[in-house]
Amino acid sequence: MTATTTDRRRTEPALPPPRGPLSAGVAAVLTAPHLPPPGVSGAAAADPYGDDLQLALYLLYELHYRGFDGVDDDLEWDPRLQPLRRALEERFLGALRADVPAGRSVEEAFGELLVESTDHRGSPAYYLEHEGELWQLREYAALRSLYHLKEGDPHVWVIPRLRGRAKAAMVAVEYDEFGAGRAEHLHAQLFADLMEDLGLDTAYGHYLEVAPAVALATVNLITLLGLRRALRGALVGHFASVEVTSSPGSRRLAEAMRRTGAGPAAERFYTEHVEADAVHEQVVRNDVIGGMLADEPHLEADVAFGADATVFLEDRLAAHLLDAWRDGRSALRAGPGHTG
Ligand SMILES: [Fe+2]
Ligand SMILES: [Fe+2]
Repeated sequence: MTATTTDRRRTEPALPPPRGPLSAGVAAVLTAPHLPPPGVSGAAAADPYGDDLQLALYLLYELHYRGFDGVDDDLEWDPRLQPLRRALEERFLGALRADVPAGRSVEEAFGELLVESTDHRGSPAYYLEHEGELWQLREYAALRSLYHLKEGDPHVWVIPRLRGRAKAAMVAVEYDEFGAGRAEHLHAQLFADLMEDLGLDTAYGHYLEVAPAVALATVNLITLLGLRRALRGALVGHFASVEVTSSPGSRRLAEAMRRTGAGPAAERFYTEHVEADAVHEQVVRNDVIGGMLADEPHLEADVAFGADATVFLEDRLAAHLLDAWRDGRSALRAGPGHTG
């Protein structure tokens, strides 16, 4: 085995530059664990959707996935970092709870999602399908890579917290996300293949540095819900809302890839999701949510919250992308990972 092969197997991302005192403080502790972590008061005062808080949370969360180059794996559950993580989460969660309707039923939360809107002005998938240029598809994929290169991973954390029908159905959907037993069919791998067609760097975490807070927040939400058992209802609501909206969105993105000649793997990632997610949507709504609420009916408002918070953050990301692209500007932060 050559050194290059070994390197490719075990390459963790580099820590990105900080974006304020919280993320600087977290990055400092990760590289020099003897330093004191930033105080929790900074978290309570920070913009809950801002770059500094979202990056600080993202850095702490990555310790639960793949970590960072040069950062001790053991910091994942370092008790000195937990109060800060909790404070960042509470700030983020508190903002989400204030920004989405409270106490909705599952039917209310999913009613609007199940009917594709006829007003497409706020849809990046519609925009990309009809007028997207290759550079915009590349930016879209670069930002989505933060999640898709770990597609399905945070949802696995909910499995021990489910029972019976909900557990069996959740595992069945995850089995597809993880390639149904074939490494080359892992959805994360299909996304890496898409990135290669688009000429992007497929290294895990490569585009973290250029991802604005509005994109980090969508990924942080999944991790937050995945890691907290108390929010298992919201995790399932999140998953269901993604599956419900994925099939029509994927059809548009597949068309965008075809129209721009992005390449066969770029098309395939989305064509695969048109069919797979039409089935996943049914299984998640009927059996995962249905099974969970049969066991734990008191979680219904949490399921609705998970779906509503997802839509809220996705709408913010959509507005950011479309504002930038309609102005002919990049939607990415400037940095060496810039795809332009
Ligand atoms: Fe998938
Ligand atoms: Fe899916």
